[in-house]
Amino acid sequence: KPLADRKVLITGGPTREYMDAVRFISNPSSGRMSVALAQTAYLLGAEVHLVHGPLAVRPPKPVKTYPIVSAEEMLAAAERIFPEVDLAIFCAAVCDFKPEKSLPGKVKKETFPQEIKLVPTPDIATILSAQKRSGQITVGFALEERERLMESARRKLETKNLDFLIANDLSAFEAEESEIFLFSRERKEPLVFKASKETLALKIFAEVCGVRDQTK
Ligand code: C5P
Repeated sequence: KPLADRKVLITGGPTREYMDAVRFISNPSSGRMSVALAQTAYLLGAEVHLVHGPLAVRPPKPVKTYPIVSAEEMLAAAERIFPEVDLAIFCAAVCDFKPEKSLPGKVKKETFPQEIKLVPTPDIATILSAQKRSGQITVGFALEERERLMESARRKLETKNLDFLIANDLSAFEAEESEIFLFSRERKEPLVFKASKETLALKIFAEVCGVRDQTK
């Protein structure tokens, strides 16, 4: 078991920001990639902690799960686990904005505000990567428009202080299979893989942790 004795934190799924008791802003992330990563890390022997928003698929039992709703809750849960782990993979599709105020109860349609001021949510990957101690590895994901993918991915690797950044284009949302571009500090050009999310998870651990890739 190549990841025995290793602890891994994974964030996954979408987050939601509520405008009132029933209406929220979010995105269509299924959380499949995070569950594939959690399952693969577990099968490779790691102790896996998955902090997640609403998921379309169920993580395997031995994975320790921390269900949350908002970005702030995700940050609070991930911040508690982060100091203990060897590797953190920020796979969540965190909702970038939240309403400045969440209204109490279910507001009647007739009185619902037509304009809502949005403020940014905390960037969990950036905040935790800034707290990285030596030996800890952080991996981010980025969903990009194809035309901007290369430039934007390289910039995020730097600005978020990540060791690896995995970029995919918009077709990855909700999909079973996707193409990824894996950027690292060392490599000039990204590695490109197209496969099911389960196979991609193995390729990611092969690259990030030096685990032998048995799918070759
Ligand atoms: O900047 P962008 O949202 O494209 O960055 C994506 C990466 O940053 C992903 O790894 C995502 O999980 C993480 N992220 C985060 N908190 C946010 C926004 C993004 O952890 N508020």
